[in-house]
Amino acid sequence: MSDYRHVTGSYWLKTAPGRSFPPLTEDVEVDVAVIGAGIAGLSTAYELARAGRGVAVLEAGRVAAGVTGHTTAKVTALHTLVYDRLRRTRGPDAARLYARSQTEAIEHAAALVQELGVDCDWEGRSAYTYVCDAGRVEELRAEARAAREAGLPASFTTDTGLPFPVAGAVKVEDQAQFHPRKYLLALTDALTGLGGRVYERTAVTGLAEGEPCRLTTAAGPAVRARDVVVATHYPLFDRALLFTRLSPRRELVVAGAIGAERDPDGMYITPDEGTRSVRTAPYGPGDGQRLLIVTGEHFTPGTGDTPARFGRLTAWFREHFPGVDPTYAWATQDNDPTDTVPMVGPLYAGTRHTYVATGFRGWGMSGGIMAGLLLTALLTGRPCAWRELYDPRRLRTAVREAPAFLKTQAQVARHFIGDRLRPPASVDDIPPGGGAVVCSGTDRIAVHRDDEGALHAVSARCTHLGCLVGYNAAERAWECPCHGSRFAPDGTVIQGPAVRPLERRDI
Ligand SMILES: Cc1cc2nc3c(=O)[nH]c(=O)nc-3n(C[C@H](O)[C@H](O)[C@H](O)COP(=O)(O)OP(=O)(O)OC[C@H]3O[C@@H](n4cnc5c(N)ncnc54)[C@H](O)[C@@H]3O)c2cc1C
Ligand code: FES
Repeated sequence: MSDYRHVTGSYWLKTAPGRSFPPLTEDVEVDVAVIGAGIAGLSTAYELARAGRGVAVLEAGRVAAGVTGHTTAKVTALHTLVYDRLRRTRGPDAARLYARSQTEAIEHAAALVQELGVDCDWEGRSAYTYVCDAGRVEELRAEARAAREAGLPASFTTDTGLPFPVAGAVKVEDQAQFHPRKYLLALTDALTGLGGRVYERTAVTGLAEGEPCRLTTAAGPAVRARDVVVATHYPLFDRALLFTRLSPRRELVVAGAIGAERDPDGMYITPDEGTRSVRTAPYGPGDGQRLLIVTGEHFTPGTGDTPARFGRLTAWFREHFPGVDPTYAWATQDNDPTDTVPMVGPLYAGTRHTYVATGFRGWGMSGGIMAGLLLTALLTGRPCAWRELYDPRRLRTAVREAPAFLKTQAQVARHFIGDRLRPPASVDDIPPGGGAVVCSGTDRIAVHRDDEGALHAVSARCTHLGCLVGYNAAERAWECPCHGSRFAPDGTVIQGPAVRPLERRDI
């Protein structure tokens, strides 16, 4: 695979197509409406249904086909380097609560897999954060110490199953990996078995909090619900301006078959080289092969040369696993909160019936399952030791967050103003499959040329808050660098927070 103008799509989606659920066609009333059927929304909906609540899940696309359908699905409490930072910024108790909440989520999912008999390739593995750069070894030692103090079975080692030497690694035993879509399709079946309702192709466009809350959908029908959970990945109906504390980060994935005897037998991640992550999954008939999955090259959506990034990641794949050919390529993105900790809890100060789960920072498998447990505790009035840790209203950390917050806002301002000052491209220079932002009077137009040479023009102004979009040539999408909205060449929304398409333009 040498031409990265076309991605192949996610292995998880190809191998678990799943059944369809109908769109919402008439008004309904439920106890809880969950917006978004990723791992956070579905875990929450299932736990609430188990607790006896009448639940409806409203999904704009298909179940588990958003970020969750494109992840790498390590289910671990070792989140690259988080414990030493948490210990220093929020104290040892916060680090302990973080470790406990993520570990309980993993144990809960393992128990569900057993109890429901879910066939989702659940495999126990050790998780490693490693570095090859000897200059970072002390950082890893500190992380191993902090993770151990936080209660994880963590140690420092230089011994890994990787086919190349590492300068040091944090190892945490008894973690897991799975096929995320198989797991969530089974959870969805269990949810509907408990009376829960699932609606696909049902985009929610409005939320009015009240008693009950009222949700409006793009197609017209409304939902009345006592409580609402916003699990849309990037938060919608964001009165608390959570988006100012989140940065979108897009990342690439390549995968190919490797002989089972070469399985590095673990889940690996390194902060070196802009992140590289490695795991394998069962592949093909029999036990002879595994699928080697490698991710990396993270970047702000809409910036940079994505085919070149795919090329770099593939070169790394081939160099470190010689003879293995990457046959899959896809990409996805997550949101990094300025203070590292996901935001799970009330949607804004003063709300009585609306909740949110977001900001998983690349660790939304254990994080999404944890969110389901935490939100269920909040909605059913049960105690939960880590509700404050994840509370999106945590203003007490605002001062400590200030530098990261200011950096995020400076980046947004740079894109808002700087991108307008960039010299626009010329339509004639756009190759087939390419795209560029061009000028028409004072208007900026996002122009894509398809393979037949026809031009497709839409406004380059993102419909969320007006930043200028940039073209992702590998995925043929317009992406907004400010908060990560994504649009197809015809302007249709692929991913929020934008909910309206880019306006059509004549060229
Ligand atoms: C490259 C990469 C690798 C990763 N690997 C791992 C890993 O190994 N382990 C790990 O723990 N985490 C990993 N993550 C992170 C993890 O995948 C995410 O944190 C997680 O999938 C987010 O789940 P979610 O439910 O919040 O979002 P999603 O899965 O995106 O679900 C949100 C849903 O909301 C829907 N929606 C949006 N707007 C509306 C609307 N208006 N109306 C109705 N529905 C709407 C969307 O269509 C979508 O289906 C990775 C992330 C990346 C980028
Ligand atoms: S996503 Fe916020 S301005 Fe584009």
